[in-house]
Amino acid sequence: MPQDFKDAQTAQEWDRDTVWYNPTRPEQLDLLLTLLADHVQPGATLIDLGFGSGQVEKLLFERIPTVKVIGVDHSPAMMSLARERLQPYQDRLQMIEHDLRDLPHLPVPAAQASAIISVQALHHLTDSEMQVAYRAIHDLLAPGGLFLLLDRIHVNQPALYPAYQRFWRWLDQKLDSKQATHEGLDYNAHLKTLHDRDDIPLAPERHLELMRDAGMQAVCLHLSGVRALFAATRS
Ligand SMILES: C[S@@+](CC[C@H](N)C(=O)[O-])C[C@H]1O[C@@H](n2cnc3c(N)ncnc32)[C@H](O)[C@@H]1O
Repeated sequence: MPQDFKDAQTAQEWDRDTVWYNPTRPEQLDLLLTLLADHVQPGATLIDLGFGSGQVEKLLFERIPTVKVIGVDHSPAMMSLARERLQPYQDRLQMIEHDLRDLPHLPVPAAQASAIISVQALHHLTDSEMQVAYRAIHDLLAPGGLFLLLDRIHVNQPALYPAYQRFWRWLDQKLDSKQATHEGLDYNAHLKTLHDRDDIPLAPERHLELMRDAGMQAVCLHLSGVRALFAATRS
């Protein structure tokens, strides 16, 4: 069954534990927030694409006191969890219900965002939808603006899947997580888990290519198995 974030029970289950199958999420989020804290000016507004239940915003509002966020998502169930979680920060958050596959029509002024982030959301878009999304992200960013993508990436070297599995078992032992079984014990099982969740991640090389084609300079800063943090800027 595909993961339906518009379903209230799925939303609550996802929100309850985001780490057991993705143990490097806290570290990668910490790095993302560190980069943002360095980049954004006091009072700046940033955009979060697929902000979900507001877990990232809670960390962000605590860490960067003056920042404001425009959160974009298509799931009222996830946005309702965010509303509850971010009640103390409601004057700093604007929520827009919108499909990420239609970012060119996002009702936000062009070339104004000093930063745009997206965490674990864009891997639901196809390659051609990502091309459109990256062009829209470029157009939304102010010159010099920063785009940070933290997302699932595709394993495109199947012969090395056993190395991924060894890496996850090593991590699971250190961090008491369950990533090795969650990702699928062999490559076919891995592809099936992606298919079952409607996840269609792109390889890191493809992300970089599409970001650069859209007019941004782009690098991959941190990679942990199938989770990567990219930084891009509108030059
Ligand atoms: C795994 S959650 C991540 C939430 C949040 N970014 C976080 O990391 O805590 C993915 C979110 O992306 C949203 N999403 C997925 N596809 C979307 C689409 N096509 N348009 C808008 N939102 C989408 C889902 O509704 C969900 O809230």
